[in-house]
Amino acid sequence: MKPIITLAGLVLAMAATAVQAEPIVIKFSHVVAEDTPKGKGALLFKQLVEQRLPGQVTVEVYPNSTLFGDANELEALAKNEVQMLAPSLAKFEQYTKQLQVFDLPFLFDDLASVDRFQKRAKGRQLLLSMEKQGITGLAYWHNGMKQLSATKPLRMPSDANGLSFRIQPSGVLESQFAQLGASTKKIAFAETFDALQTGTVQGAENPWSNIYSKKMHSVQPYITESNHGVLDYMLVSNTTFWFAIPHQIRTQLEGIIEEVTYEVNRAAEAANQADRDRIRKAGTSEIIELTAEQREAWREAMRPVWQEFEPVIGADIIKAAQTVNRKQRQ
Ligand code: SIN
Repeated sequence: MKPIITLAGLVLAMAATAVQAEPIVIKFSHVVAEDTPKGKGALLFKQLVEQRLPGQVTVEVYPNSTLFGDANELEALAKNEVQMLAPSLAKFEQYTKQLQVFDLPFLFDDLASVDRFQKRAKGRQLLLSMEKQGITGLAYWHNGMKQLSATKPLRMPSDANGLSFRIQPSGVLESQFAQLGASTKKIAFAETFDALQTGTVQGAENPWSNIYSKKMHSVQPYITESNHGVLDYMLVSNTTFWFAIPHQIRTQLEGIIEEVTYEVNRAAEAANQADRDRIRKAGTSEIIELTAEQREAWREAMRPVWQEFEPVIGADIIKAAQTVNRKQRQ
């Protein structure tokens, strides 16, 4: 018996073929090297999406600012020229001041505390803090705690006096160095190595994985293991693009993001420690470990930033973040 093909069936079949013929393309752009927590996360996302949604979704990953860099990636997301980014939390300042809570120095004792905050209600709410500007937060990805690097040893806060530091575009970070009598220059990540090498700035702050993968240690003879702040990411998409993805596919993508997030966040601390070790073995930089008293002096010196930014970040958010530390302080 010949199969009966109805008009509706034909239309559905053609629609399904059209979906298969034209997979959804997600361009994922980022500014770091592939062998870093974010770089590996982007590649794992691509791998799982293409395994589980073959022909339906493809992911193109552009590392090392090869497609868009710090200066234009969020603008490109707004224009849907790129569909996924994971900027460091410091880079959202022009969209929301609330995320600046993550830049406050000495707010989180360690990455485990940061993790707890991100998983609690306030942290989850912040993922939606840029919806009105068309940016949907999908997850937090860890990199790690920041270390101070410089052309001279930084043991006490006064050692930073008079130096110029490269910073990300964040008022909190600008103020953090101002408390030390240091000046700052906002420089894109892709240009940071050159700025350090040519002496445009004498110092910087980054987690071990960013320092190592961009060879910053080769031009920074001293790295103070300060763990004074966190550098984490928000995985974001263009809100209109994201919610136009058919529900069934979007749900699968959300499941994959959850798996990748678990993996990135599980592995980030170990990756940073491995890069710390590589820097130590390279022998180009002295790694300065602070005594408890020295660390307390840095904490005290940077602490006025909290009061300065409380009105814009929100006292409730800062308070919620403080409760995640195991050691409670005032
Ligand atoms: C990044 O990890 O995405 C870059 C951080 C920076 O600009 O220092």
